[in-house]
Amino acid sequence: MRTLLVIGIGAGNPDYLTVQAINAMNRAQVFFMPDKGEEKAGLNAIRMQMLERFVTEPRYRLVEFAIPSRRQAGTPDYRDAVQEWRDKLEAAYRRMFGELGEDGVGAFLVWGDPTLYDGTIRILKDMQAAGWEFAIEVIPGISAPQALAAQHQVTLNRVGEAVTITTGRRVGAGEADGLTSAVVMLDNHQAFRRFAGDEAEIFWGAYLGTADEILVAGQVSEVMDEIDTVRTAAQARNGWIMDTYLIRKPEKS
Ligand SMILES: C[S@@+](CC[C@H](N)C(=O)[O-])C[C@H]1O[C@@H](n2cnc3c(N)ncnc32)[C@H](O)[C@@H]1O
Repeated sequence: MRTLLVIGIGAGNPDYLTVQAINAMNRAQVFFMPDKGEEKAGLNAIRMQMLERFVTEPRYRLVEFAIPSRRQAGTPDYRDAVQEWRDKLEAAYRRMFGELGEDGVGAFLVWGDPTLYDGTIRILKDMQAAGWEFAIEVIPGISAPQALAAQHQVTLNRVGEAVTITTGRRVGAGEADGLTSAVVMLDNHQAFRRFAGDEAEIFWGAYLGTADEILVAGQVSEVMDEIDTVRTAAQARNGWIMDTYLIRKPEKS
């Protein structure tokens, strides 16, 4: 039976790879590499460095696949757009399946952790449900929120409290307004500005774990313009950006 390894490679630093991930990388005959527009070059270069550094007997093949572009989040038919995107992605995965022999082992090098804001597991499960026979193994990785907390030397939650991981789209819609600690991912519109009047603190990080890493922390009201400026400049310089932040409101007395 074919096996598909869903390997979390951590959110940027090759040193984030676990021993389990390295062992899995050494089992794969085919790596499915995403072709994802602007980010492609940067992220795939990091994936390649990992393969060169950690695969001891390189006999693997690389197979590129195009990830169908997604419609903008926030549009009224967003859920339909996501479904359409998943269907196209599944078609791409079906094509990739032809690349593996009957007992072949293929691998996806998933950014960060495969269980956080990543569709690979869901799509593979859908394929199994549709009758495709293969085994799946999931190897956890260090996610962007973990890398963020480590680099800022903060805990994500305050003692005994909850922390919510959410998206910029949801924050923009006001869904994080009542939360004390929130980690925000996938935010292209700097939704943190809405917390400027709350005496909230922000711990912001871009390109975490990579040579381009940028960290900014402080009161939202004091650092939001600085974040905007460095974010815009970095995006122009690199052609893409990935950033994550923790918002923390003052403790209620
Ligand atoms: C599609 S999600 C993938 C998350 C990934 N599976 C994880 O575990 O971190 C992409 C988002 O993750 C965050 N992200 C991933 N890597 C990052 C990094 N190195 N620095 C900052 N944010 C990152 C950003 O919020 C980005 O928009």
